[in-house]
Amino acid sequence: MPWKQNPWFETVLEAQRRAKKRLPPSVYAALVAGSERGRTPDDNTNAFGELQFAPHVAGHQTDRELGTSVLGIPISIPVLISPTGVQAVHPDGEVAVARAAANRGTIMGLSSFASKPVEEVAAANPNTFFQMYWTGTREAMVQRMDRARAAGAKALIATLDWSFSIGRDWGSPAIPERLDFKAMVDFAPEALVRPTWLTQYLKSRHLPDLSAPNLQPPGGEAPTFFGAYYEWQQTPPPSWEDVAWLREAWGGPFVLKGITRVDDAKRAVDAGVDAISVSNHGGNNLDTTPATIRCLPAVAEAVGDQIEVLLDGGIRRGGDVAKALALGARAVMIGRAYLWGLAANGQTGVENVLDLLRMGLDSAVLGLGHKSIHELSRDDLYIPEGFERVLGAQKEAPTS
Ligand SMILES: Cc1cc2nc3c(=O)[nH]c(=O)nc-3n(C[C@H](O)[C@H](O)[C@H](O)COP(=O)(O)O)c2cc1C
Repeated sequence: MPWKQNPWFETVLEAQRRAKKRLPPSVYAALVAGSERGRTPDDNTNAFGELQFAPHVAGHQTDRELGTSVLGIPISIPVLISPTGVQAVHPDGEVAVARAAANRGTIMGLSSFASKPVEEVAAANPNTFFQMYWTGTREAMVQRMDRARAAGAKALIATLDWSFSIGRDWGSPAIPERLDFKAMVDFAPEALVRPTWLTQYLKSRHLPDLSAPNLQPPGGEAPTFFGAYYEWQQTPPPSWEDVAWLREAWGGPFVLKGITRVDDAKRAVDAGVDAISVSNHGGNNLDTTPATIRCLPAVAEAVGDQIEVLLDGGIRRGGDVAKALALGARAVMIGRAYLWGLAANGQTGVENVLDLLRMGLDSAVLGLGHKSIHELSRDDLYIPEGFERVLGAQKEAPTS
């Protein structure tokens, strides 16, 4: 680079480049994630590029409203933090993300596999949603929900789209069970070539913690990340009755994350959820599931008047947020975008990402001639033929 680097980055892709330079390769690879051929994460991001804007040339609005609410919580931009369970990105981890989200007036989604306890995260951002998978006994799930509720979590996100599909054509790094002496010796060559990352941890006087503190049983120890994963894998998958039970057991606002099909969206309504996120887990579940932005219109059309419909997957620009809203999302959630920001520049980096999304969204609302995000509609877009995917809405086969 011939010029001095500005600590402020101007796109999420630049944050990703910086994250790649800063993070030990195995930590970076854990964030890239994906499965099998990696088609779904690619489609998640590329599909936004296929949608085209239809901007106006005059009659633009001077004042533009970007705020909305999700589950009754007012937010200044329609962008929430999606829960991600990744360790070792930054010593302040999810607490830094929560502070950034609070400073920018939005909601923090905290994974139950995350590296920081829900009490610390909810103290940093009072609008924290706690995320759980269907894992462990019902008793353990109730105990985890009670703890999150007592910490002040405002909603539960149940993430149900996971099928333990492993194997990436580009390979997965070996991640140690714990950072014991042997693991540190093995890991040292990676850490030593990433001095900025290492110095951050040395300054914080903590080594990266590879446990899941939000899954700690009363009086017991927090499981390791792999221990938590094993419990999840051993748990029989949930039925729709189980989803209704979970919803009931939580009692407060409830989001079901992972919907791509119209029939599932309708069943989620029947199970009593308040919101869904059209999501394919950022392309980390079944590879070749279509991009979420392709699935959104049919799902929003089917249930958008009964529950709140969010979308996550592939959001990298404010224009992507505008497109999701135009196709029926109330708000979006971001995953890798804020992880790149966190890796590149800690809390400031996450604020930087949220600012980029706000500015890009504002540009889109301006160019499209609107005074509010609530005016965004399909009319603002050129949608190429064959773009959309309607999953799970085939006519029922005749019975005779
Ligand atoms: C490294 C990584 C870890 C994730 N961990 C979780 C998790 O613990 N719980 C969850 O509900 N979703 C998890 N997700 C999915 C995100 O919440 C979100 O659905 C996805 O990242 C959105 O796609 P994007 O990264 O393209 O924005 C994870 C995603 C990534 C990339």
